[in-house]
Amino acid sequence: QNPATQSLYDLMEKVSQYYKHQLLNHPQRQVFVDYLKQRGLSSQTIDQFDIGMAPDGWDNVLRTFGGNQQMQQQLLQGGLLIDNEKGRVYDRFRKRLMFPIRDHRGRVIGFGGRVIDPEDTPKYLNSPETPIFHKGTELYGLFRARKSNRRLQRVVIVEGYMDVVALAQHGVNNAVATLGTATTADHLRKLLRAAPEVVFCFDGDRAGRDAAWRAAENALPLLGGNHELKFCFLPDGEDPDSLVNSQGADAFNQLIENAQSFSDFFFNQLLAQVDANSIDGRARMIELAKPHLKQIPGGVYRDMIEQRLAELAKTTVATLNKHIDPASQPP
Ligand code: GTP
Ligand code: MN
Ligand code: MN
Ligand code: MN
Ligand code: MN
Repeated sequence: QNPATQSLYDLMEKVSQYYKHQLLNHPQRQVFVDYLKQRGLSSQTIDQFDIGMAPDGWDNVLRTFGGNQQMQQQLLQGGLLIDNEKGRVYDRFRKRLMFPIRDHRGRVIGFGGRVIDPEDTPKYLNSPETPIFHKGTELYGLFRARKSNRRLQRVVIVEGYMDVVALAQHGVNNAVATLGTATTADHLRKLLRAAPEVVFCFDGDRAGRDAAWRAAENALPLLGGNHELKFCFLPDGEDPDSLVNSQGADAFNQLIENAQSFSDFFFNQLLAQVDANSIDGRARMIELAKPHLKQIPGGVYRDMIEQRLAELAKTTVATLNKHIDPASQPP
């Protein structure tokens, strides 16, 4: 391990402790504390997730940690400072609730920061990509989920920080969140090493349903191993945080238990786009499915998906394959 990288981890940890300390001691802490209380979070949960606050102001972190040029450089490298075109250097996170993001070894590698004033934007601000923080592979809550249970059977992917935290407070300790990005194949590979079942649980809004389909597309190369991917849809307007707070953990767990299989979700999405009562619609369904089928690794799972597609299209697998994979035809 390169010493510069090690000291970057150390710095991230120290800044995380600083934000946490501010939430307990800063003269302007009350409005942050009230916000968290209004969101239903207990002091114990806040402490467990090391939630903190970045005070208002341009140079709190800069003054506290940026004593010399080298330290400022490191704060910039960690994404904690911004260096603008005019050469002005200032704190990236100001007047925000801070959620430290940990890697698989529990090291702080980045932050998500939420506004407490609805007028402020953006609602969430994440650390930028840094030498130690990569949004396309990291998941909020995974370290803690694994710590709470070394033999996880299932992990649930939710959209947001608050979802992970609220679920944990209600005893659901296997939720993780992507960091404001789509779920990538790398995320899924990492999760499937932690548990054989991964359930996607997106918000019951347009954005959530679109995110589910994007996640499904990214999951295609991982289908068919000794694991299962499922989809769960929340009622319109709900997310896991709102649902667990209004209806409790049992209601959430019930939804997860009843999650749809990947194949059901996939075919329902296809069927919603065509008129399966006509040859025209069924032919188009095959066209829509083709580019996706090609990405599923060859094997039993792909064969069974092809068989199901053939059934739904009222044709045969032989006919399908003739057009999906011309290379596999005998000469
Ligand atoms: P709360 O309003 O605190 O309950 O957050 P939420 O998680 O329910 O928010 P939402 O469903 O709108 O968004 C889900 C996730 O997308 C958030 O947790 C963030 O990670 C991300 N996100 C939401 N808004 C923004 C934004 O303005 N900028 C960025 N970069 N990410 C966002
Ligand atoms: Mn949403
Ligand atoms: Mn949400
Ligand atoms: Mn929410
Ligand atoms: Mn509650």
